[in-house]
Amino acid sequence: MLSFLFARESVVGIDIGSSMLKVVEAVSTNTGWELLAAAVDQTPPEAIKDGVVKDVHEVAAVVRRMLRDAGIKAVGAVCGISGSQVIVRQVQFPKMPEAVLRKSIRYEAGKFISASVEDSIVEFEIVGDAEEPGQMNVWLVAAPRDMVDSRVAVLEAAGLEPLAVDVEAFALIRSLVELSSTDRFLNETVALVDMGASHTDVNIVSRGEFALTRNIPIAGDSFTNAIKNLTACSFEEAEQAKLEMTSDCPLDQFEAAERDNRNWRAVQPLIDELIREIKRSVNFYHSQFPEGDTGSFVSRVVLTGGSSQMAGIDRYMAAKLGIQTETAQVFRDTAVSADTLPAELKAKHEPVLAIGTGLALKELVADVKQKAA
Ligand SMILES: Nc1ncnc2c1ncn2[C@@H]1O[C@H](COP(=O)(O)OP(=O)(O)OP(=O)(O)O)[C@@H](O)[C@H]1O
Ligand SMILES: [Mg+2]
Repeated sequence: MLSFLFARESVVGIDIGSSMLKVVEAVSTNTGWELLAAAVDQTPPEAIKDGVVKDVHEVAAVVRRMLRDAGIKAVGAVCGISGSQVIVRQVQFPKMPEAVLRKSIRYEAGKFISASVEDSIVEFEIVGDAEEPGQMNVWLVAAPRDMVDSRVAVLEAAGLEPLAVDVEAFALIRSLVELSSTDRFLNETVALVDMGASHTDVNIVSRGEFALTRNIPIAGDSFTNAIKNLTACSFEEAEQAKLEMTSDCPLDQFEAAERDNRNWRAVQPLIDELIREIKRSVNFYHSQFPEGDTGSFVSRVVLTGGSSQMAGIDRYMAAKLGIQTETAQVFRDTAVSADTLPAELKAKHEPVLAIGTGLALKELVADVKQKAA
């Protein structure tokens, strides 16, 4: 009853990418959630290696500046982890209470992860009973300790209070599927594909349930390096040439219009290889269903991340994959109001802010679920 006396506290999601830093501030409202502010800036070069923040203070200084410039007052913050070293697997355990599993999880996790358990942070969530009697399904998450610690250290050094560390795949599912204003994603199987700078993540979500995540080490940096190696220029110059390449001609029209474009000829084999890898992930997922049972096959690919901003990539990918492909409408198909965000920021960065949005909403959504329970 007295809740009106307390100001609602906002939370900021900090998406620490190897190429770009993204911050999104969100708050609960009477009817749902609202995004208050967002910003995108460059990650200091070489500051992040294999997902580990090597230069915590340099990255924190940029985050602090972004928060100030965007007028973000939130103290509580959530960051994410991703990459080939983050293991997200559904495994089976004999049925046991959560507290018992917690005691043995580190030992059990050792069977599923190749890294040393001492150097890993291990978490889990019990999903429910498995088909096999006496067994239960559990989501197991393991990540290198220095990856998690260095990201939490960035939040602290930026003057924030770390509330949680989330897997980027889960943040994507939250912002694109769970909080979608349309229920189309709840009736089909979608592949959420985040194309960043250092890697591409493929996350398959079937009728709202997270099914599979896979990491592919081909993304924006691979394309830039291909141009760099071809022309012997600097990374920055190659990056510029890459951006100009697709702003001049959408990807799906290169074949017809600019076949001999040297940069395109260097980048195309990598894009095609990436698409083949996405196809392999989809085929792997499909292989678990009996022949002829296509009801749960992936019927849509939804793209996010900076490299999804290459003009025409959706049509190019759709043609090669044979699956309907679209760029995510993070601020349009959502139950979360983004009305106060500047139109220019939304137009320029929409698919890039999907993970940051999901991170910002993690605790706010959990609060509502807890109150409803
Ligand atoms: N219009 C565009 N055309 C082509 N590439 C683009 C465009 N805009 C951004 N990119 C690329 O997107 C990448 C950055 O995307 P994003 O911010 O999603 O990556 P990140 O989160 O920093 O990386 P990662 O998650 O892999 O560590 C860069 O490689 C950049 O060149
Ligand atoms: Mg990223």
